[in-house]
Amino acid sequence: MVSRKDILVINGPNLNMLGKREPGIYGTTTLADIEAHCQAAAKAHGLNCRFFQSNNEAAIIDAIHQASQDNLAGMVINAGAFTHTSIAIRDALAILSVPVVETHLSNTYAREEFRHHSYLAGVVTGVINGFGIHSYSLAIDAVAATLAKESS
Ligand code: DQA
Repeated sequence: MVSRKDILVINGPNLNMLGKREPGIYGTTTLADIEAHCQAAAKAHGLNCRFFQSNNEAAIIDAIHQASQDNLAGMVINAGAFTHTSIAIRDALAILSVPVVETHLSNTYAREEFRHHSYLAGVVTGVINGFGIHSYSLAIDAVAATLAKESS
């Protein structure tokens, strides 16, 4: 049962391969490491993480639609390469009314030009980019700070 204390952390394509995938860019951190790191960050704020990973654009859109009906606290999303291609994920995120933080392990602005544009950035609360695994805990801190500001 989803609760108002839950943050949904969505990871997109190829992020299930972290640990093996381009370690020179992404390091040896696995998705399981990231999920444990997120959960610890959420607990420090009295929040809880739920996790969803898919390599399928439609499945990510369906998960965002479900999130719009659940009573979530917020969302953290690393949409991987769909960040740079998906108007459909952008349109799904625009439905949400809770804080949403887009996050990336790498500094996409320091990489190829096609990674410099995010279709998602314009509809999320904010973006955290380039801090490796810490991008995720910073994103959770940002969701918690936004919630605290909203309720003050
Ligand atoms: C990424 C950056 C994207 O450009 C890339 O396609 C990814 C990972 C990151 O976390 O740094 O899959 O989102």
